[in-house]
Amino acid sequence: MRRAVKLFEALVAIAIVLAAGLFVGSEWIIGRNHAVPDDRVAIPRDPAAIAEGGRLARLAGCRGCHGPNGEGRVWASDRLTGTIAPPALARKLAGYSDAELVRLIRYGVKRDGSTLFRMPSRALGSWADDDLGRIIAWLRTLKPGAGDSRVETSYGPLPRLGMLTGSLEESVRHVRLAPAHRPPETGRYVYDTACAACHRLGDDHAPGDGPVAPALAPRAAGQGPAAFHRLLRTGMERHGRDRGPISAVARDAVHALGDMEIAALHAYLRGEAARLGR
Ligand code: HEC
Ligand code: HEC
Repeated sequence: MRRAVKLFEALVAIAIVLAAGLFVGSEWIIGRNHAVPDDRVAIPRDPAAIAEGGRLARLAGCRGCHGPNGEGRVWASDRLTGTIAPPALARKLAGYSDAELVRLIRYGVKRDGSTLFRMPSRALGSWADDDLGRIIAWLRTLKPGAGDSRVETSYGPLPRLGMLTGSLEESVRHVRLAPAHRPPETGRYVYDTACAACHRLGDDHAPGDGPVAPALAPRAAGQGPAAFHRLLRTGMERHGRDRGPISAVARDAVHALGDMEIAALHAYLRGEAARLGR
């Protein structure tokens, strides 16, 4: 009996040490300071730029993840996960300067210097200065509303373990990917900014804990421009099936594409398919 009690005490002690290690280690990852470039981006004020910014915020997934008008969402809330909640944007942004917002979106570092998770910073970091300016111009038009989510993200043991093992990738990037202006290769730019958050060119890929996104290059190579256009405009049964938050983001991004962008994307993906031999 006494041995059983001792064993139990030992197990409890080990559990406490592991839990403390998990917490301290993940807090270190969340809180460590990040040196990232300090980019200055001009923010336009004209209505056309703001409207385009609203469209780009759909392509970028801001509106898919944070709600169509940035009202915020709750993705998960349970003991193991904790609470994962893309917050209401107007409320959060009130405390951000334009430069801090550039740092958040492009480099994944929050206003207080801490680490951001789950925002696809490789794709978000690919927006050109002038487009990022348009997105921020649109963000600045958002007003706090009665329907805004007040829920804050707080990480439970599972994502904290993910931070330590690297399976939950932090959004921080240290290197500038973005060009100054929207580049002439539209197809590649659309892929980098709007699709690469989830898709790869030559391999199937599962973004985070979401469903597998099929390799895009072979998907485009298999069909002509008209069929590809039809697929994106009306035939996206697989995007259309609701499979959690990822589906909503994907749908919003594809719906926001213009006809010229779809044609350019198709040409780019076909070229990549030939290059990859797929
Ligand atoms: C894939 C989903 C996703 C996309 C796309 C996304 N976000 Fe987020 N965002 C989140 C989640 C989840 C959080 C909370 C994560 C955290 O606190 O670490 C968050 C946090 C934020 C915050 C709060 C930062 C703070 O100080 O706490 C802001 C502001 C924000 N996002 C703005 C944006 C903007 C602007 C865009 C588009 C350019 C965008 N997000 C795109 C999911 C997303
Ligand atoms: C937030 C993640 C996400 C984004 C962003 C995204 N997709 Fe997807 N996409 C997926 C997932 C996941 C699937 C597989 C859906 C399934 O199996 O339910 C998919 C499937 C597809 C398919 C196959 C559809 C079919 O019916 O066979 C195509 C084509 C596609 N995506 C194109 C795009 C293009 C083009 C973009 C960029 C404009 C894009 N996607 C952006 C996640 C995403």
